[in-house]
Amino acid sequence: MHKLTLLCLLVAITLTNCNNTPEQEPIASVIERGLERSEVQGLLMAKALEDQEGRLPMTTDPGGKLKTSDYRWWCSGFFPGQLWYSYENNPIPELRKYAELYTNRVEDVKHITYSHDVGFMLYCSYGNGYRLTQNPEYIDIMITGANSLSTRYRENMGLIRSWDFNKDKWQYPVIIDNMMNLEFMLWASRATNNPKYRDITISHADKTMENHFRPDYSCYHVVSYDTITGVPHIKQTHQGFADESAWARGQAWAIYGYTMMARETGKPEYLSHAKNVASFIMNHPNMPEDKVPYWDFDAPEIPNVPRDASAAAIIASALLDLSQLTTDEESKKYLAYAEDQIRSLTSPDYLAEPDTNNNFILMHSTGHLPGNSEVDVPLSYADYYYVEALTRLKKIKGL
Ligand code: GLY
Repeated sequence: MHKLTLLCLLVAITLTNCNNTPEQEPIASVIERGLERSEVQGLLMAKALEDQEGRLPMTTDPGGKLKTSDYRWWCSGFFPGQLWYSYENNPIPELRKYAELYTNRVEDVKHITYSHDVGFMLYCSYGNGYRLTQNPEYIDIMITGANSLSTRYRENMGLIRSWDFNKDKWQYPVIIDNMMNLEFMLWASRATNNPKYRDITISHADKTMENHFRPDYSCYHVVSYDTITGVPHIKQTHQGFADESAWARGQAWAIYGYTMMARETGKPEYLSHAKNVASFIMNHPNMPEDKVPYWDFDAPEIPNVPRDASAAAIIASALLDLSQLTTDEESKKYLAYAEDQIRSLTSPDYLAEPDTNNNFILMHSTGHLPGNSEVDVPLSYADYYYVEALTRLKKIKGL
């Protein structure tokens, strides 16, 4: 061979090797592995708690043991919802049996009027159950729950009140998490043909968009409103690092909430807001390479602080939703980001081995770090939104 040709060939081979990125696992195989593991862990959890009347999984306690709650904890609906998603992906009688058993355990949530979390609790459980089975008995339970939640809405405030504690400090506290209760209310309006639940939803989402966000589209955790003037008198955090910081899960609730509102109402202002929140999250300089956020984007001592896999799962699920409300390059950008997050969560860094992690699916979430509670642990809502994200991605890919 001519010397020059040989040299060119060697250079070409070297350059090719230099550019060689490791081959990525096909996304179909990532999804399959994630869903299989979720089913295995979900069934192990379901069997472990089967005889413990009324109990539902929460997290792991500081001693490493499974911590459970009854229906009154805000997370009670996530485990039944996780089982419904597994059933959707693999409709076997055993999954349906356990999904129904654990859904029934949260029925009494329908009477809760002391907190705003009724939407989380009933829509993840009964809502998914109804979507998949059309069981007519679930309708009354959800409508009763929507009426209970409606009692927390005050016409003159135009918002659903989130919490009743700290009354000496907060006159009318609304937390960003409350956006997650709105899909339930929209469902109630459709199911009853009564616009009142939808009206509450729109008013709450509009006021939250006006008052919860900073110019960079990050959000406060808690905004408390003056009950006389109806304007905010306090903006602060409860579970984040500082009043002016961006608590990771708060940003996750925000992107999920406004994307859902855009999907359900078709209102362009919600879509535009969701995109702005997405941009804040996706371009944040403190987002780690694997796209699983630290517990607060402004936590001091990053990178030596805990992650929050629950925030990653919620953001991934929201971005998949957003990718279906947008087109072309924009849609591809959201889809690609969510895929990266799902790849990370489905890696051994976050995905628990079968029969470990107290049968939760994901490791490394953070619930309430300032309260020294649930730091670097599994959480039932991380698992719920992870299985939801896998399910959404599977549908988008036509698998
Ligand atoms: N308060 C719900 C959460 O911890 O995100």
